[in-house]
This record gives sequence, C-alpha cells and structure tokens, in this order.
Amino acid sequence: MGMRKVDLRSDTVTKPTEAMRAAMAGAEVDDDVLGSDPTAARFEAKMAKVMGKEAALFVPSGTMSNLISVLVHCEVRGSEVILGDNCHIHIYENGGISTIGGVHPRTIPNNADGTIDLALIEAAIRHTDVDLYYPTTRLICLENTHANCGGRCISVEYTDKVGEIAKKHGLKLHIDGARIFNASVALGVPVHRLVQAADSVSVCLSKGLGAPVGSVIVGSKSFITKAKRLRKTLGGGMRQVGILCAAAEVALRDNVGRLEDDHQKAKILADKLNEVKGLHVDLTSVETNMIFFDVTKGSNASPEKLCQTLEEHGILVLQTSSTSIRLVLHHQISESDVHYAFNCIKQAVLGIGYNGDMNGN
Ligand SMILES: Cc1ncc(COP(=O)(O)O)c(C=O)c1O
Repeated sequence: MGMRKVDLRSDTVTKPTEAMRAAMAGAEVDDDVLGSDPTAARFEAKMAKVMGKEAALFVPSGTMSNLISVLVHCEVRGSEVILGDNCHIHIYENGGISTIGGVHPRTIPNNADGTIDLALIEAAIRHTDVDLYYPTTRLICLENTHANCGGRCISVEYTDKVGEIAKKHGLKLHIDGARIFNASVALGVPVHRLVQAADSVSVCLSKGLGAPVGSVIVGSKSFITKAKRLRKTLGGGMRQVGILCAAAEVALRDNVGRLEDDHQKAKILADKLNEVKGLHVDLTSVETNMIFFDVTKGSNASPEKLCQTLEEHGILVLQTSSTSIRLVLHHQISESDVHYAFNCIKQAVLGIGYNGDMNGN
C-alpha cells in the first residue's frame, strides 16, 4: 500500500469521479468548432440558465475565459479596465490583457475582504471626452470568491452597487467567478442573483466543482458570439469537446451541493490550527474552502521546513509567502484526511515526533 496522500494545494487537484468518467466515455460528440457537438451545446445552455444569462461558452481554462471576456468588453484600442491590485487577472495571468489584448490595467487596492472601495472605483473612471491623454475606462472587474483574500465572498449588495456605478458611467462589469458557486453557497444567494449585475462571468469547472478541465463564460448572446470568435483566435476552439463538457455536466449536477461540506471542514480545520502555538489563522477570512495560516515566531518549523515535513507524510500544501501557507479543501478530502493533516501540522510545528497515527485520530 502506498503512502497516504492528502493534497491540499488547491481545489484544482481533484480527479474525475467514476460518474464523470462514465459520462465522458458515453458522451455523444461531434465537431464543436463547426458548431455541431450536442453535448457541448446542451452543457452551455444549462450553464447559461443556471447563471441567469442568455448564452454560455466552454473554454479550456479560467485564464482564457478572463482574457476573452476582458478583450471583448475592451475591443476598442486604448481601453482601460479597473480591477483590484490583488486579483487573479492582474497577478497570475501573465499580464495577458495587456500583452495580448493591449488593455490598460488601472489597479485599485483590494480591501482585506476582496472588495474595492466604491468611491475609489468611481474616482478612477476616466472619460476621453474630458481629457486627451487618458485611456478610456470601459470595464470593471471583480473576483468572487477572492482567492488571494482568503477565498472570501463578495456580497450581492456590493456587486449590485458596482453594477450601478458601471451602468451610470456606461461601463461593463465582469466577474472572475472561478469559485462563484462557493460564494453562492456560503452567502446563501442563488448564483444567478449573485451575478445579476454582471455583463459577463467566468466560472471555473475544474476548481471546487471538480471537473477535470474547463471554464465557462456567460453573458449576452452578442457578447458570446464575439467571445467564440476570440476563443478560436486564441486556439481555444476544441473539436470533440463534448467529452469534457460531459464531465463538467456531472460536476454541476453532483458537486455544487457538496461545497458546503468543504466550507465546514475548512472552518473546523482553521479553528484547530489557530489553537496551535506558533500558528495564526485570521478566522474571519475563512468563509469558503480556503485557509491561509501564518507560521509565527513561536513555531519550531519555518514554512519551508513545515511544507517539507508535511510532504514526507504525503500532505501537499502551498507556501504563499515567507510566513504563510495555504490549504484548500475539496470534495476528495475526507474528515479523516483533515484530522490526519491537522495532526501532522501540529506535530511538525510543536517539534514533536510524528506519532504514526495513520487514521488521523
Ligand atoms: C480566482 C481565479 N481566477 C482565475 C483562475 C484561472 O484559472 P485556470 O487555472 O483554469 O486558468 C484561477 C486559478 O486558480 C483563480 O483562482
């Protein structure tokens, strides 16, 4: 028997379930670039309905879905997008909106809860009819849940207010909703209501929902028509893509209801970690499936050493700074995995030998 493995690096690490594999094997497929894959068409129609938008488009990744969305909204050269300085689009997507799309990012500090001050958003909007030298603001982007802010949820009230600002100034609103279902479940707000104010939303299927590959962009019919052309330009048109959509369909059916369980496990684990001398968790930030904890001075292990020791016990985590580590829960982490991971972390931090309790009790 191999070593026990508990992979807490991300919710992107899940393996397709048996039901997903069966659906993939049996999927009816055809050439989606020619517009004739029935499984892709059915899945996209379902996603559009769930998200409360006119149309949807399956794309290979969250990065591509954000890139396409920003580029469609900012198709006129000299466009500017307002976005948080700690958001995924700005930090982790290779600056694609500028390098590929020629879109100018106007960053505004993200608050600890992932929001951006409404007054700062409004003050940052620039109209070229006022001054010759400004780029023209065309888009505002939000991220929900906000990954770098601990997986915190952006409320529907706040989203609506940003939508009102966008409308007032003739701008569009895009939501990077890589984990929008986590937000919907945690807030108790139907997902279509949560994104009602948005002109487009990017939804990842391969994160908390557990599908192996893919994201979906939703928006108006005319927006999705333009997005489809850009997807082809970027090499994201995929032929028998129904195989992937079939797995995503199962993810949507089976896994939205499991997210609450991930959130509960994250809260329990965060509470326990915060009680360990040498660790600190900002418990208010644990709203969904992510935990960021600080390894404080009282600890016997540095974050590097802790990651290494945990890996020796089959526990994979991500170091996010010189003092902090990130853990992400997903549907393939059991209660027993959580106990096992906690015991290993505690023992490593307190500098006591691992007691070999493989059941994690
Ligand atoms: C908030 C957020 N947006 C977008 C992405 C990009 O998704 P992908 O890895 O599928 O490109 C991620 C990935 O981790 C993410 O966390």
